[in-house]
Amino acid sequence: MKFFIDTANLEEIKKGLELGLVDGVTTNPSLIAKEKKPFLELIKEILKLVPGPVSIEVTAVDAENMVKEAKKYAKLGDNAVIKIPTTNEGLKAIKKLSSEGIKTNATLIFSPSQALLVAKAGATYASPFIGRLDDISQRGMDLIEQVLTIYDNYSFDTEVIVASVRNPMHVVEAALLGAHIATIPFSTIKQLINHPLTDIGLERFLKDWENYNKEVAKKK
Ligand code: G3P
Repeated sequence: MKFFIDTANLEEIKKGLELGLVDGVTTNPSLIAKEKKPFLELIKEILKLVPGPVSIEVTAVDAENMVKEAKKYAKLGDNAVIKIPTTNEGLKAIKKLSSEGIKTNATLIFSPSQALLVAKAGATYASPFIGRLDDISQRGMDLIEQVLTIYDNYSFDTEVIVASVRNPMHVVEAALLGAHIATIPFSTIKQLINHPLTDIGLERFLKDWENYNKEVAKKK
């Protein structure tokens, strides 16, 4: 399972890379806006920093301008992936871009039918948003299961990025279902690592080791 980090924050990306837990990055207009930095400069830095795919979202809403914007971003680096919203216009743009070998990430997917259509259009990645479904009392993970079954039934190459991840159980459940990728906020990556019993256990081991060494030293 690949881990992408869902952020445009350079410090978080660097920390995630140091941990060896960043196979790629996903950004969106809201994440970019939080950073308060010039968009293209920030994106170029992220593309340089990360060896894996970096998703950059278009803000145009019609296919023609989505394609224009996508081509501009695709030139910024070999690892650029263009995030396209899953709308009628988005579908047209995905089809056009994939026919030209430009990698796409179909975003804002909330139903299995949307996921089927973007795979047929040739999307490289499909991003179902699970947290936002949970928010409206619909199990987001059910969507992941359905999308994985559909892709498996027809051997689609499109990889599923579990998005809108909000907690460690989202990641664990996605892994149990065999999702290809989860895009995870840095705060959730940290939660995945920490366990109070690990901390208590380590403290006890170190204390016992210290006492043992004192006793050995006394006997000498
Ligand atoms: O990957 C999509 C993500 O950025 C959206 O997350 O928490 O705003 O639903 P959230």
